[in-house]
Amino acid sequence: MNLRYARIAGTGSYLPEQVLTNADLERRVETTDEWIRTRTGIERRHIAADDETASSLAEHAARRALKAAGATPADVDLIVVGTTTPDLVFPNTGTLLQQRLGIHGCPAFSVEAACSGFVFALSLADKYLRLGEARCALVVGSECLSRIVDWSDRGTCVLFGDGAGAFVLTPADEPGILATHLHSDGRYKDLLYFPWGVSCGFNELRGGARGGLRMLGNEVFRTAVRTLSRLVDETLAKNGIEHEQIDWLVPHQANLRIIQAAADKLRLPMEKVVITVQEHGNTSAASIPLAFDTAVRDGRIRRGQLLLLETFGGGFTWGSALIRY
Ligand code: ACO
Repeated sequence: MNLRYARIAGTGSYLPEQVLTNADLERRVETTDEWIRTRTGIERRHIAADDETASSLAEHAARRALKAAGATPADVDLIVVGTTTPDLVFPNTGTLLQQRLGIHGCPAFSVEAACSGFVFALSLADKYLRLGEARCALVVGSECLSRIVDWSDRGTCVLFGDGAGAFVLTPADEPGILATHLHSDGRYKDLLYFPWGVSCGFNELRGGARGGLRMLGNEVFRTAVRTLSRLVDETLAKNGIEHEQIDWLVPHQANLRIIQAAADKLRLPMEKVVITVQEHGNTSAASIPLAFDTAVRDGRIRRGQLLLLETFGGGFTWGSALIRY
C-alpha cells in the first residue's frame, strides 16, 4: 500500500452578490442590529440569487481554488461536496459540480453532515489521497441556507447565510493533513433540524407546509461549547500537540460567542482565531473553507503553520482537522 499525505495545494471561496445587513433584518422581523451583534457577532449575510444553487456557488469557489493550486478542472480526479442544501435530491451536488466544471468520469459525490459537512468531506478525501486512489481532489462546502430558513422567525433567520468554499488537495511526502477526528450523535436531532425531507414529510411539503429549520438555540449553544471543548482536548492529546503550538484556530463560523468559548478552552488569544462570521453569518458546511480562504488570501495563514479546524452542527455532528499548511 502506498501511504502518503494530502496537502492543501489551493483554496477558494465565493459569496453571492446580494447582501442582507442587520439593518435590513430590522425591517423584516422584530430585532435590532445591537441584539444580533452582541448575541452572535454577525453584521451581514449574503443571499443567493434566484438562479444560484449550491452547485453554482461551489463552481465559483472550486475554480478559484484550482487557480490558486495552479491546476485545471482536467486535473481533478475526485470531488467531494459537503452540503445541507443540495440543488436536487439527485443527481448529487458533487456530480452537478463536476458537470459544471466540464469534466467527466471521476467519482463525485456529496456528504450530508450539516455544518460539519466540509470537515467530513475533507476527512474522506484525505483517505483517498493517502491510499493513492486520487491525485487531485476537490473538496467543497457549499450552501444556500436562505432557502430553508423561516424568514419570519427572528430566532433563526438572523443567523444564516449562503456561500461556498473549496480546497484542492494533492499528494505529498509530508503532511499536510495530520489527522481528522469525526463524531455523530443522533440523540440530539430535535435540537436542530429541518422538518421535511423526501421519505419523511414530503407530502406535507407538497401540500404547501410552510416554515423552516428548527432550533433550540440555548441548548445548541450549551452543547456546542461543551462538545467543542472535548473535541479540542481529544485532537491535541491524540496527536501529542500542546495548545501553544497551534498557529491558527479556524472554527466553524456560527456564533462569535461559541468561537470565543472554544478559543478560551484552547487558551488561544483571539488574535490567533480566524473570524469571518461578521461578514457572512452561519454558512454551515461552507463556513470553514470560506474563513480559511479569507485568511490565506489576506496573508494571516502562511505555509508551514499549524492549524486546527473544528466544527459542530445538526445531528449533532462534530469534528476537527489538524493541518500543517
Ligand atoms: N432579536 C431580538 N430578540 C430576539 C431575537 C432576535 N433576532 N431572537 C430571539 N430573541 C429574544 C427571544 O425571544 C428571547 O426573548 P424573551 O426573553 O422575551 O423570551 C430573548 O431574545 C433571549 O432568547 P434566547 O434564545 O435565550 O437568546 P440567546 O442568548 O440564547 O441567543 C442565539 C440566541 C443567538 C440563537 C444563541 O442561543 C445561539 O447562538 N445558539 C447557537 C445557535 C447556533 O449557532 N446554531 C447554528 C447551528 S449549530 C452551529 O452551527 C453551531
